Amino acid sequence: MRTIYAFLLGIIMVFAIGCEKEKKVSNQLEYNIEELLSKMTLEEKIGQLNLRGTSSRAKTLSEELKQKVREGKVGALLNVMNKEYVDELQRIAVEESPNKIPLIFSRDVIHGFKTIFPIPLGMAASWDEEVAKNSSRVAAIEASSFGIRWTFAPMLDIAKDARWGRIAESPGEDPYLASQLARAYVEGFQGDSLSDPTSLIACAKHFIGYGAAIGGRDYNTAIISKEQLHNTYLPPFESAFKAGAQTVMTSFNEVNGIPASGDKELLTNILRKRLKFDGFVVSDWNSVTEMVAHGYAEDEKQAAEKAIDAGLNMEMTSKSYEDNAKELLKENKLSINQIDNMVRDILRVKFRMGLFKTPYRNKNKDVEIYSSKHLELAKEAAIKSSVLLKNENNVLPLNKKTKVLIVGPLANKPREQLGTWTFDGDKEHTVTPVASFEKNNANFEFIEGLTYSRDTNKKYFKEVLTKASNADVVLFIGGEEAILSGEAHSRANINLPGAQEELIKELAKIKKPVILIIMAGRPITLQNIKSKVDVILMTWHPGTMGGDAIYDILFGIKEPKGRLPITWPKVAGQLPLYYNHKNTGRPASSKEYVHIDSIPIGAWQSSLGNTSHYLDVGYEPEYPFGFGLGYTSFEYSNLKLSTTSLTDDNNIIASIDITNTGERAGEELVQLYIQDVAGNITRPVKELKGYKRISLKSKEKQKVTFEITVDDLKYYNNELKYGVEKGKFNIWIGANSASKVKEKFVYE
Ligand code: GLC
Repeated sequence: MRTIYAFLLGIIMVFAIGCEKEKKVSNQLEYNIEELLSKMTLEEKIGQLNLRGTSSRAKTLSEELKQKVREGKVGALLNVMNKEYVDELQRIAVEESPNKIPLIFSRDVIHGFKTIFPIPLGMAASWDEEVAKNSSRVAAIEASSFGIRWTFAPMLDIAKDARWGRIAESPGEDPYLASQLARAYVEGFQGDSLSDPTSLIACAKHFIGYGAAIGGRDYNTAIISKEQLHNTYLPPFESAFKAGAQTVMTSFNEVNGIPASGDKELLTNILRKRLKFDGFVVSDWNSVTEMVAHGYAEDEKQAAEKAIDAGLNMEMTSKSYEDNAKELLKENKLSINQIDNMVRDILRVKFRMGLFKTPYRNKNKDVEIYSSKHLELAKEAAIKSSVLLKNENNVLPLNKKTKVLIVGPLANKPREQLGTWTFDGDKEHTVTPVASFEKNNANFEFIEGLTYSRDTNKKYFKEVLTKASNADVVLFIGGEEAILSGEAHSRANINLPGAQEELIKELAKIKKPVILIIMAGRPITLQNIKSKVDVILMTWHPGTMGGDAIYDILFGIKEPKGRLPITWPKVAGQLPLYYNHKNTGRPASSKEYVHIDSIPIGAWQSSLGNTSHYLDVGYEPEYPFGFGLGYTSFEYSNLKLSTTSLTDDNNIIASIDITNTGERAGEELVQLYIQDVAGNITRPVKELKGYKRISLKSKEKQKVTFEITVDDLKYYNNELKYGVEKGKFNIWIGANSASKVKEKFVYE
């Protein structure tokens, strides 16, 4: 007994020392901040609030910028991509500025730096936190060798509208999946220690509701209910903060009438008081001064006042703080305490990064840019991100001997394949599908047919069709050039651009299997050509190693493992369209659905159908959230609950048997969805609450279990009370969000 006491006492002592140590470190940190702050002039304090940019293609280092740094009027720099410039500017800051405060160098390192991974929407399709973590760790190692220590990532905007160009950068439509990825990205970027020279401080962006822009029109108005803000848009950011993200970027859009960069409820009450965020907030590019255009500030001076009062620490590129803060203080519109608090947050992050001890970049010579390990991880990510949407008659996987005609405007485009936000990826390192076929001595011929995705010139069609008639299969690799998604690049019509559809229809007449591979930054509507092709593989913009990933998938060396992180619409007119929608009082179903062509001519004016759907395209997506095929098939059976009564003290274990009914080994992503049948507010028809990836040999069966707790069911109601009412729930476990394998339980 005595030994047990001694053991427990020891544990308590260790824990107490640990807390004491942590508190001591924190006190020391805060002491260092106060000591430095006490020495700073007002000009220097305002200087820390400025993020200044240069063009990444700048050929000279401006004397004006160097002088500003020398006077302590710059807190951080954006897009300084010349290593010597980075070293020179940091030297000036730490040797010549009044208080030797180091700079932070920042860059958009979104899905890779030199080695480019699939676009974030593609990596979300992997449903694999390791993919997210590996991609951001590789990016951090490569970018930090250039002096970058702050990335403007992860982008955590929940997106439900494929017309929005920045859906390409998003984690998709689901807050649960986005939250798992958010944690992984932050861990990857920041690494095990913020003071490690390869650590990039993360920036959870864009705070908040950017993906809710009306009509998918970039920068546009977001109207978000309180419950949606807390149940849908905030969770990925909370997950990023729990993982230790050190910065947040405000979004360009207004939310409910207030631009995010001037929203005190958002930046102080929610971010600081409720979420206890203690890093710093940076505006997006000129988003502070854009509050004038929004009609929220009369001039840039008032914009500065509103942003500072809201709690926005650092102003990116615009100069309203630099030009107006002193005057606003003189006019008592702001207090020095507000300025001091903003500076404290920035200094706190700089101390945590170890910049005062190690201000200079990681000059470790053996940081291998494009190392074989990095390239292998990029290839694995591209395979895990690829979503097989159709595989009629099991055309895939191909036999190595198959004679393939490769056609299409994205089959051999090393730059386009990298996707949006890839300024630093060198296209010379890209492995395109054509390059991979060549490297593997495949039996193929290549003719582009169209020279770029928007090309409408049909002059090569005849030659393409002649070659196609001599091939066993046609491999059409099309989609969107990289510039057709990303910032400011929303599309109202999201079909394949140019004459791609026409060429596919012509190819279908040759009566050879047609494999369509899509490289794009968004779901592409396929109504006009879906029936013309046998295979549809969505690879998003797959990054540097996309060609090898595609080759391995086509020939069955690897199985496509992706599942849709976004609902895939039939037509753009359905958008926004998402699986976790509300049921409405008149939910559509196959029984009530009235198709436009079924309405008798001269029909009497009545509300035929009576449910929420479109007469012309119905109510279902092309492909549901969570959907994706592999090279085998699985059967779900025997869904069982350990009990149908969930209580505060008694969890439920749900189990299901999954059998690989196909001839090949394969992986399945088993997904758990739950519905709260009736709540204090209406609740989504289902919500993703868990997922597990399993591998099964042919004919092998495995039992998969999920534990369900009351916490899994909680949500915010309109009064922002977080909880759940007792009552009925439905549970599904299946291969995607349209799964019908269902059970019921009661929370009592
Ligand atoms: C852009 C983007 C933002 C990016 C910033 C810096 O306008 O909205 O995501 O990080 O400017 O490039």
